[in-house]
Amino acid sequence: MRSSLVRQFGDPGQVIDLVDIDRATPGAGEVEIAISLSAINPSDLIPVTGAYSVRTALPFVPGFEGVGVVTRIGPGVRDLKPGDRVVPIGASGLWQQFLVRPAEWCFSVPDDIDDTPAATSYVNPLTALRLVEQLREHFGSLKGRSVGVTAAGSAIGGMLLRLLDLEDVETTAIVRSEKTVSRLADADRIIVADGADLPPRLAFDAVLDAVGGTLAGGLITRSVQSGGIFIQYGALSGVPVPQAAISGWPDVRFAFLWLRNWVHSAGRDALEAAFERSFAGLRDGLFTSPIAATYPLSRLAEALAHQADPRRDGKILLDPRC
Ligand SMILES: NC(=O)c1ccc[n+]([C@@H]2O[C@H](COP(=O)([O-])OP(=O)(O)OC[C@H]3O[C@@H](n4cnc5c(N)ncnc54)[C@H](OP(=O)(O)O)[C@@H]3O)[C@@H](O)[C@H]2O)c1
Repeated sequence: MRSSLVRQFGDPGQVIDLVDIDRATPGAGEVEIAISLSAINPSDLIPVTGAYSVRTALPFVPGFEGVGVVTRIGPGVRDLKPGDRVVPIGASGLWQQFLVRPAEWCFSVPDDIDDTPAATSYVNPLTALRLVEQLREHFGSLKGRSVGVTAAGSAIGGMLLRLLDLEDVETTAIVRSEKTVSRLADADRIIVADGADLPPRLAFDAVLDAVGGTLAGGLITRSVQSGGIFIQYGALSGVPVPQAAISGWPDVRFAFLWLRNWVHSAGRDALEAAFERSFAGLRDGLFTSPIAATYPLSRLAEALAHQADPRRDGKILLDPRC
């Protein structure tokens, strides 16, 4: 079968090979899934660079998100059968034609959700839901709170703006360039800033940050009010949040959110409930991700080049069937 494979850490454009490997046979409690579509997310590429080398064993197949059809079931599997459409989660490996996963890590996709939305139903919707939940745990009611969202033009940024709008939060979208502004209809206010150029007199109750670096440091020290919270869930700048900003402002709570940690501790019921909310959000547009292009897995190099293009205006999907 066709698969991608990372044998050494490095630039994703250089080190992800296309290979022809044997299909695995599902063991007890496992299913084999023919992947129909998988997504390329920033979180797929970070382990390829070696950033998490202590917990990433080589070689590995990238891809944490996608949708497919069950083709074979191993002994003891009762809740799934060949032909069922599922989103398999819990480990990487979606950038290949066939994937074997424990049935307990597969979530059924309702018939009215097409493959394209299903392929982006996991990583960003569940993270956005968790981030809003984390705000609720900190503040109780969110009504009337002021929240800044960095990298607001990203897929998850759009979801956060829409979710917060439903909670009557006053949202500020923070983006690095004017080109994104037209995509931010759901924000109450828009700031174009990439670090040191933050406008004066910002006063947020909370910031949800996927950028890190100078921008995060500036937001913690100059925008989050006492008693507020700064949640980091990404580092698109490639630079960590400055430690001096974290330790120098003890009145601002600093928190992380990594979906992976929640997923591996939440339990099946909580995950099913989260997927139900994700599918509902896909039906009503809350969790829609714009799609820039779909590439056959055989053209992975082109797909990765498009992913890295700063003009990209949506998610890149891979079709491992071709
Ligand atoms: N913690 C978790 O578990 C978790 C889960 C889901 C997502 N995430 C994180 O969320 C972030 C966004 O993910 P996504 O899937 O929504 O990505 P995406 O749709 O691919 O969007 C990324 C966008 O972020 C903006 N961006 C990139 N580099 C930037 C920088 N240095 N400064 C400011 N903006 C920058 C760009 O928008 P413009 O070109 O319009 O500026 C880019 O299009 C990633 O960091 C990802 O790792 C984390």
